[in-house]
Amino acid sequence: MKKKLFINGEWVEGSQYATLRSPYSEEVVAEIPTATMEEVEKGLQAAYHARKTMAVMPSHQRASILEKVAVLLEKQAEEAAEIIATEAAKPITAARAEVARTIQTYKFAAEEAKRIHGETIPLDAAPGGEGRIAYTVREPIGVIGAITPFNFPMNLVAHKVGPAIASGNSVILKPAGQTPLSALFIAELFQEAGLPAGALNVVTGSGSLIGDKLVKDDRVQKISFTGSPAVGIGIRNKAGLKRVTLELGSNAAVIVDKDTNLDKFISRCVAGAFGFQGQVCISLQRIYVHEQQYEDFVDKFVTAAKGLTIGDPLNAKTDVSALITPKDVSRTLEWIEEARAQGAKVVIGGRAEGNVLLPTVIVEAEPTMKVSCQEVFAPIVLINKVKTVEEAIERVNDSNYGLQAGIYTENIHTALAAAEQLHVGGVLINDIPTFRVDHMPYGGVKESGVGREGIKYAIEEMTELKLVVFNKNE
Ligand code: SIN
Repeated sequence: MKKKLFINGEWVEGSQYATLRSPYSEEVVAEIPTATMEEVEKGLQAAYHARKTMAVMPSHQRASILEKVAVLLEKQAEEAAEIIATEAAKPITAARAEVARTIQTYKFAAEEAKRIHGETIPLDAAPGGEGRIAYTVREPIGVIGAITPFNFPMNLVAHKVGPAIASGNSVILKPAGQTPLSALFIAELFQEAGLPAGALNVVTGSGSLIGDKLVKDDRVQKISFTGSPAVGIGIRNKAGLKRVTLELGSNAAVIVDKDTNLDKFISRCVAGAFGFQGQVCISLQRIYVHEQQYEDFVDKFVTAAKGLTIGDPLNAKTDVSALITPKDVSRTLEWIEEARAQGAKVVIGGRAEGNVLLPTVIVEAEPTMKVSCQEVFAPIVLINKVKTVEEAIERVNDSNYGLQAGIYTENIHTALAAAEQLHVGGVLINDIPTFRVDHMPYGGVKESGVGREGIKYAIEEMTELKLVVFNKNE
């Protein structure tokens, strides 16, 4: 299957191609254009030109296009899920859940498109402000450069394209090299939904070359990026005055207090650690369990993890499939070996079958080991014993990252203290950090990024606040 670039409302044959393979079977899935700088330039020109059309499009029309995309996706949900499962090796049940979320995200975008508004400002609150009426409006900023990751190839595209279109911007989208098909599929739906030519352009190919061009080009007003901290920090350094939203990684943690009913949430912790092979920015990587519950927790967690089914992402019974690249399999095996050599115990897993890293549980790990202090982005979880919740909070905060954290506790005072003291973008009480629905503000502190997604919050970052003052005195 030879795919095309989507530029200025047209499907354009690429001038060079690369082979896309399934991460699980390594079979050829498609031939994908590797956009040249000339092709990216055409996409930029189209987006720059279309920004004017988008800026004057009434909000009901923008909402209607987004609603149509949601309806079209609902009709083709199974095809969409199979695309995700095939190109990302996301187990099909998780891929179906992602499609359902993507539909929600476009629906939220359609709704938010209709309620972008400013406020009136009482200027007479300041001496000299009398006799003036002031109000603010939110205007689109122009061209959004969207750079999206492999792990939610449909829904994280929606989190950038949805609010951009909702707020009257145009977009040039560079999807992850391993998962271009989901983005191209969505571009077809936008075309069918009647989005004006140039308002969405999809250029596939080399991340660093295309990304660099988008980040440095003056016509692009904002970069919205989800990916690794290293790339995100590079973007921030090069972006100058351009706006940036960066959704980066984390080594997300949950705390388990004493006197909690483990049976109520063990399976949720297992899902949080191993769902989509742990390749989720808020995947559960570190668990801090009160010493009173520790042995019990490890036993129950390991028993539940042993029940997971490994294999083909297209099989509905599969829970855990291949990592995105063989390089990630070697990297994670090295990190596990390093932990083992330094005294940690690998309770289950710790080896790979083909490109599938088996669900791995590690205990007695030191905070300085890579499996603890770096983002593993793999089905590896550490279970740590703590004496108190205070100690656990300190250890959760002892991280370069801060995206989301969770705590299970029966004590309201402990819950409130954790909400206050955890240094992260989102605190989940009686849940894992992996919880996300698509209208909530989502983003991190420290190396987990800057800015927030969640449609309403992304729209704020994709619009400029303009003030208008009427002087009645003249
Ligand atoms: C991410 O990995 O950053 C996204 C997580 C999600 O949307 O659930």
